[in-house]
Amino acid sequence: MDFPTQLQHYRAEAEAALDRFVPAGRTRPARLHSAMRYSLEAGGKRIRPILVLAAAELFGRRSDAAAAAAAIECVHTYSLIHDDLPALDNDDLRRGRPTCHKAFDEPTAILAGDALLTHAFALLATHYADRPTLAVALVRGLGQAAGSTELIGGQMEDIEAERIPATRDQVEFIHNGKTAAMIAVSLACGGLIGGASPAELETLRRLGRELGLAFQVIDDVLDATATSAELGKTAGKDATAQKATMVRVLGLDGARERARAHTASALAEVSKLPGDTAFLRALVESLLHRGN
Ligand code: IPE
Ligand code: IPE
Ligand code: MG
Ligand code: MG
Ligand code: MG
Repeated sequence: MDFPTQLQHYRAEAEAALDRFVPAGRTRPARLHSAMRYSLEAGGKRIRPILVLAAAELFGRRSDAAAAAAAIECVHTYSLIHDDLPALDNDDLRRGRPTCHKAFDEPTAILAGDALLTHAFALLATHYADRPTLAVALVRGLGQAAGSTELIGGQMEDIEAERIPATRDQVEFIHNGKTAAMIAVSLACGGLIGGASPAELETLRRLGRELGLAFQVIDDVLDATATSAELGKTAGKDATAQKATMVRVLGLDGARERARAHTASALAEVSKLPGDTAFLRALVESLLHRGN
């Protein structure tokens, strides 16, 4: 299977998993479940669930990876809903549609985010209950990545660093927390489900860190260079909000160079993995040149 076909295949599997594992929009309270599904079904690249599925496949996929893929996309989508709130980035556009708080209202968007976050852990604990060691490892990994020292910690320092001079190290801490942690845990969850060894899990995590850092540097570059129509979210927001980005610290060329360096490091980690890594390699390369 060529890369675009394989990508489409994983993407469809991720979409089907979300539909299967998230309550229907008509479930009471319908407004809450409709808002959760509104943001989930708006699309997005589905990179994190695709990484879960691809990593599990690499190791032979001993257990069903679809529920973990859906759980991670629920946490990611919650983080976007809250990131867009007026108290944080105050964005009106996400995934080519009005943000959750614009389409519904702020209380509903806050609660939809809360519910997606909580649902992810219930889903993991329920779906993998027959493999308790695996279930605990997935819950622990996702809890760590989504918690105060990683995703939320990155978001906190991102907000704190607005309008003040930031160093490259500070920006890298922010990127590691708000973005790389979730990408690393996506690969690690896939590895856990597939039965990767501790050393292989470490390689997956290092790969995820490097890929995540490249991914967020490119996000910063695209914010400064692409249009809102291309991105499906408001372009130029980082400069307006005076965010601490890699573009602000290193300039556009310097940021692109960092993205290339992190991508090269990610590819070096891919080389250490067993099995057919062609898809992962192509995915890592394609994300360096993505347009949204
Ligand atoms: C956006 O993530 C937030 C970042 C961490 C840069 P994505 O670029 O993966 O957003 P979607 O899921 O495709 O909408
Ligand atoms: C947010 O980073 C990352 C999250 C985990 C929510 P950004 O604020 O740069 O993401 P965008 O640009 O709004 O997607
Ligand atoms: Mg933000
Ligand atoms: Mg934002
Ligand atoms: Mg951004």
